[in-house]
Amino acid sequence: MTDTKKSIHGEWSSRFAFILAATGSAVGLGNIWKFPYIAGENGGGAFVIVYLLCVVLIGIPIMMAETLLGRRSRQNPINTMKALAEEAGADKNWHYLGWMGVIAGFLILSYYSVIAGWASAYVFKDFTGSFFDADASEIKGLFDSFIASPVQLIFWHSLFMLATMVVVARGVNSGIEKAVRFLMPSLFVMLVLLVAYAMTTGSYDEGIEFLFMPDFSKLTGDSVLTAMGHAFFTLSLGMGAIMIYGSYLPKDVSISKTVFLIAGTDTVVALLAGIAIFPIVFASGQEPSAGPGLIFQTLPIAFGSMTGGWLFGLLFFVMLVFAALSSSISLIEPAVAWLVENKDMNRKQACIWSGSVTWLLGFGTIFSFNVWSEFKVFDRTIFQLLDYLTANLMLPIGGFCIAVFAGWIMTQQHTEQELNMPSPRNYQAWKILICYVAPAAVFLVFLNVIGVL
Ligand code: TRP
Repeated sequence: MTDTKKSIHGEWSSRFAFILAATGSAVGLGNIWKFPYIAGENGGGAFVIVYLLCVVLIGIPIMMAETLLGRRSRQNPINTMKALAEEAGADKNWHYLGWMGVIAGFLILSYYSVIAGWASAYVFKDFTGSFFDADASEIKGLFDSFIASPVQLIFWHSLFMLATMVVVARGVNSGIEKAVRFLMPSLFVMLVLLVAYAMTTGSYDEGIEFLFMPDFSKLTGDSVLTAMGHAFFTLSLGMGAIMIYGSYLPKDVSISKTVFLIAGTDTVVALLAGIAIFPIVFASGQEPSAGPGLIFQTLPIAFGSMTGGWLFGLLFFVMLVFAALSSSISLIEPAVAWLVENKDMNRKQACIWSGSVTWLLGFGTIFSFNVWSEFKVFDRTIFQLLDYLTANLMLPIGGFCIAVFAGWIMTQQHTEQELNMPSPRNYQAWKILICYVAPAAVFLVFLNVIGVL
């Protein structure tokens, strides 16, 4: 592998462009929609601490590993695993890891797009004044009747998938970079303003206490797994998204600094969302464990009652849709890059193929909330099953394998050269995390869930 090698899809114009794109991938529905609702379902504080520990001890080292793998090979995740396994003289079966990632991306995007569709619909609902002066039960009624309608959900899901396909078809430099550039800062500011609103609800302390006061008796093996799975999900790890973005990263950029920045931003955004939402949950007499509808049942109350709430709500949901879009493009990019590199398609054809498959798969999630809501496998609806299978199983397994590959299969010389850390001490710390801490932690959590521990 030569130092001058570049991806055939092009390269980020700068380190900043990579940071924007990778942060765009990381920050999304996972932070604003999923984190608050799973924290609510799993009892709050203790869950949040486990999640934070997983980000630091497992997520950050694996994010560095994924980035360095991609940058070293400059290809899609499947070819990356093949090429790097060859370079290290290892088994060629490693490329199945790339395959699992591509499949996980499809499965995640199939439900991600449905939820992003909800956010898009809420832009429209805000616009038409649906939240104006509405109380908690009206807002909940609005949400319940919305998800009961397959036709509406299909419409918004289709629209969002189409938007994803159009952006991805335009390619790394023109499409992805531009889409992300102005979104992140705006979303951040809006969240800070929402936190300020939460302070006026009278239940701010209660919300903070729920989110940060750990009660470890509320932790179960499954909630620990969910917290760990979410660390992977929220950082976009374990399926090759960060790997493919790393493959467009110029050689001279410091991977470690960049990764710290991305993971830090992602975590702050999730915590801000939690701090904004739980006070509203308590002030309006709702349950933290309301499930996937949580933000749709709480935030509109704020928008309906605060001055300027109409415009604010409108902007907020628009930002949320864009945050979801900058994540969804990273879910489909590994598949698109593979189709382009290996199947001789152009980007447009590749987007149409992979987008259509995901779009169809999305119907499973749509029907989980209405016509098939009683259809359960392992006591879960299709949506819950997809979520569990991807976030709790495939991503941690993928991450585990990436850690083992970067720590044990690749030569020290190669990883050291890619990471190019300022001091050997930092490299050693990463090495310990990636060789021992991260894989062992994932392994122990799995053992715990299957009841061996
Ligand atoms: N991280 C995104 C979020 O929090 C979702 C996402 C984008 C993702 N790309 C991914 C999750 C790759 C897992 C793997 O909303």
